[in-house]
Amino acid sequence: MPARCGKESIRGESTALSRLAELATIPELRSWTHSQRAAARRIALVPTMGYLHEGHLALVDEARRRAEAVILSIFVNPLQFGPREDLARYPRDLPRDRVLAEARGVAALFVPTVETMYPPGSEVRVIPGKTAERWEGAARPGHFSGVLTVVAKLFHLVEPQLACFGQKDIQQLTLIKRMVRDLDWPVEIVEVSTVREPDGLALSSRNAYLSTADRSRATVLSRALLLAHRAFCEGERQAQVLEERMAGELRREPGVTVEYIAIVEPEALEPVSVVDQQTIIAIAARIGGTRLIDNIRLAHGLT
Ligand code: PAJ
Repeated sequence: MPARCGKESIRGESTALSRLAELATIPELRSWTHSQRAAARRIALVPTMGYLHEGHLALVDEARRRAEAVILSIFVNPLQFGPREDLARYPRDLPRDRVLAEARGVAALFVPTVETMYPPGSEVRVIPGKTAERWEGAARPGHFSGVLTVVAKLFHLVEPQLACFGQKDIQQLTLIKRMVRDLDWPVEIVEVSTVREPDGLALSSRNAYLSTADRSRATVLSRALLLAHRAFCEGERQAQVLEERMAGELRREPGVTVEYIAIVEPEALEPVSVVDQQTIIAIAARIGGTRLIDNIRLAHGLT
């Protein structure tokens, strides 16, 4: 076969020039996973919507520690966006994502089109239970059905031994773990700690929407979580007291509208009145036009 130059011409295979296989279709994906299994390589899947940052890349690092072949999917999944949400303007930069993924040792990118994932006429959806109804689910009806449907589809297509998800999206992670458990899926779900900016802001593709002023205001989320963690370390166990302290901190920052402060147990994310090491505290707030979420586990604090 003649030598080929440039990544753009490479489809579904690696060459000496590029170690990154780029897969767009289901047959290409299946042939790649087949070749990995034939070579007895463990496959780790890292699902993303692209516009990669160090949070995504921490998932890749963890995947690489645990498996020989890491496949990263990039798909801005329309099913998980509400009609008034940011699907059309969601940030995208595939050329940059390619470079970052390859530098971190990703073996393959799966970048399907909407038609590939949802051919005309496809209508079956995964319906989560009541854990999906509160918090993010209440603010974004149908969101988690969209997330679980695409993740289920990716699990079926790739059949990975393991898949990595960030604690940053704690309700998503909780629901994916429940789906795998409830449906007896032979895939290990690996949780990766939240990666933050030096000033505490959790990395997120949506941080790109923040104006300079809103960007500096946004640190109030992690400050409020830190405050709750400090109070816990000093012996406070009443959820209401922690919530009031956090609400006070959040109120001090102009232009920040709190949607919820959730002080919950880790299984079904139900509110608790007395906190312990297992308790999760999650916040959602609007800063300018941007909706941000963050959370901590009291056992760990800000990671
Ligand atoms: P996306 O927002 O691109 O995130 C992809 C993965 O990166 C998720 O598991 C998310 O929790 C993780 N992640 C995001 N920010 C992080 C941070 N600061 N530190 C650590 N991990 C972080 O979440 C989605 O896409 C989608 O819902 C998806 C699961 C791909 C389904 O469409």
